[in-house]
Amino acid sequence: MIFRWQDDMPPLENYAVVVVDTLRATTTMATILERGAKGVLPVADVDEAFSLRSQNPHILLGGERHNRPLPGFDAGNSPFDYAETMVQDRLVVLSTTNGTQAVKRVKDASWLALGALVNARACFEAQIQAEEKGLVVCAGTEGQIALEDVLAAGAIVSCWPTSLRGDGAHLACALYNRWQHDLAQGIRLASHAKTLIDQGLEQDVDFAAALNIYSQVPVRQDTNWFAYP
Ligand code: MLT
Repeated sequence: MIFRWQDDMPPLENYAVVVVDTLRATTTMATILERGAKGVLPVADVDEAFSLRSQNPHILLGGERHNRPLPGFDAGNSPFDYAETMVQDRLVVLSTTNGTQAVKRVKDASWLALGALVNARACFEAQIQAEEKGLVVCAGTEGQIALEDVLAAGAIVSCWPTSLRGDGAHLACALYNRWQHDLAQGIRLASHAKTLIDQGLEQDVDFAAALNIYSQVPVRQDTNWFAYP
């Protein structure tokens, strides 16, 4: 398990990778598909998002910088921004500060999915079926380890057999085991949770603490878009 993305990621060609950005990018992307979108595409650059929409005006743009919606975008990075009536059968491009950057760094993985507390169990099950070595990559926050990502990573890797867990996975499991019965409180220890709460986004923090409310996982398709298989 990798606690935060780095520029020099190890070769990932033989890995089934789950990227985790619990607050809020991967929670939100899972929610976008859950609300009926056809696909979601994480992109690192705002310009790339605008360019994709200029090629296909039906694409919705979402995302944030400094946790706030971007000018000219249709929505921010809150799961509450994506009602079923808005995203049903649509394609959504998302650009965020850390989560979508992390996805870019692991693009060479042979299988790639988006994980969070909301779909932790389903991530484990999908990863097993991918029949590659499993790896969880946390996005972190601006190059630093982020507690909420390690918490969700722990929820995923606690399903792995103990013999498959490296030191990082054991650490993540220990954190998850400590808070699994009170995830809403555990996630509040995270500095990014405090920032979001200060910005009036407490409901997003609570939403991200909901365990296993989704039974499917956004998985990268041949088109590079993430969808429910
Ligand atoms: C990110 O990708 O940095 C996060 O999802 C930030 C946020 O809370 O919107």
